[in-house]
Amino acid sequence: MKPIGIHALGLAIPRRYIEMDALARARGVEPGKYRSGLGALQMAVAEPGEDTVALAALAARRALAASGVDRERLGLLIVGTETGVDHSKPVSSFVHGLLGLPQAMRVYDAQHACYGGTAGLMAAVEWIASGAAEDRAALVICADIARYGVGTPGEPTQGAGAVAMIVSTDPALLALDLGMSGAASSHVHDFWRPLGLREAQVDGHYSVQCYLDAVASAYRGWRTRAIDRGVVARGTPASSALARVCYHVPFCKMARKAHLHVRRCELEDSGAAWSVAAEEAAGLASYAQQVEPSLGLCAQIGNIYTGSLYLGLAGLLHAQAPALVGQRIGLFSYGSGCTSEFFSGVVGERAAAQIAAANIPDLLAARERISIPEYERIMALPPTAPLVPWPSQGGDGAYRFVGVSNHQRQYASG
Ligand code: HMG
Repeated sequence: MKPIGIHALGLAIPRRYIEMDALARARGVEPGKYRSGLGALQMAVAEPGEDTVALAALAARRALAASGVDRERLGLLIVGTETGVDHSKPVSSFVHGLLGLPQAMRVYDAQHACYGGTAGLMAAVEWIASGAAEDRAALVICADIARYGVGTPGEPTQGAGAVAMIVSTDPALLALDLGMSGAASSHVHDFWRPLGLREAQVDGHYSVQCYLDAVASAYRGWRTRAIDRGVVARGTPASSALARVCYHVPFCKMARKAHLHVRRCELEDSGAAWSVAAEEAAGLASYAQQVEPSLGLCAQIGNIYTGSLYLGLAGLLHAQAPALVGQRIGLFSYGSGCTSEFFSGVVGERAAAQIAAANIPDLLAARERISIPEYERIMALPPTAPLVPWPSQGGDGAYRFVGVSNHQRQYASG
């Protein structure tokens, strides 16, 4: 079977952001808490016009342009989101219309908190692997606005953005190890958003523990299959088969906690004698090499829920693609509630050229820094607020929500 995986990526981020040091000062918090306690440097701020549909459509258009794949070849569109805009009409349906995609397509949304995008990716990969796709490709989009509210403990872990992926055979970026994954799910109330509320409810410290329990179990599932398939030699640490590991990143420090936890589980499972102090030092060195390179974008944008794992992947490939060609990387997706999956893939030969087409430095450079009072003003706007003046996006034609007419959401671009 031909390799199947992520061929191209497109990103969309809000045009405005705040500095976390400024937010810390405004909240009377020592800036070190956000900067090194959470690992957050900046945070994207979405305005009402930059809703989930607008971000998803822009990321999708950029992914298609970067991919060189003809839109007529698309047979499947899935949007993973937990911040949709309608109880019935999915975000994917709006995107399908805004981009003028072919009629002969399967189009739907997938939801399970931050795992929804991975649900879409797995469905797309398995659709292609089944042969049902014939020669067609899939478009999978992860798009969300993460919102906890002003003055809450979750406030410094907000963010917004979308990552769109073209999934196909012979992928330029990452060929997934089909069927080689470990899943872990439990019914927990760590994070949820009741119908009608814009702000997520969260049991913050418990959510961290739920994530750690899930990553340990999902990793062990992946390791069992990796050993069965000969990707990991029996008796050797499975993590040595992974050049890098990208984790779901609700805040950057969480990736560090996850990585150290996985290493500890691996040591416990090996039955070898180990000292806490020696393991701590080795774990931090391994974190610096295997995980930190994927966190650059996440630290500047914040949590984008479904897209956070793939923002990490984009940041990693942007930083290190030439050095990673042919190497295997691990990926851990976590959706509160909870479900999760640890999987892996091999970086493609054309990854550096392909990720360059995502123009990541230009996207960051085009953003405008705003003050904390301006951020608080935006947070207080109702979701259907009239648009503030919308400056030109350098001809990029960003989509924006412009209001509701006859109960129908309207969008414009330009
Ligand atoms: P908190 O209680 O305000 O923070 O909330 P804290 O007191 O735990 O401090 C955070 C860290 O900063 C600690 O480090 C402190 O020691 C350190 P740690 O012990 O964790 O290593 N610290 C400092 N460091 C340097 N200088 C200082 C300083 N002061 C303190 N001066 C919490 C933190 C994450 C709980 C909160 O922000 C929150 O509730 N966030 C939202 C929930 C969340 O992100 N959960 C993550 C797991 S669940 C998940 O990933 C799913 C999710 O993406 C949703 C979905 O699936 O859809 C959220």
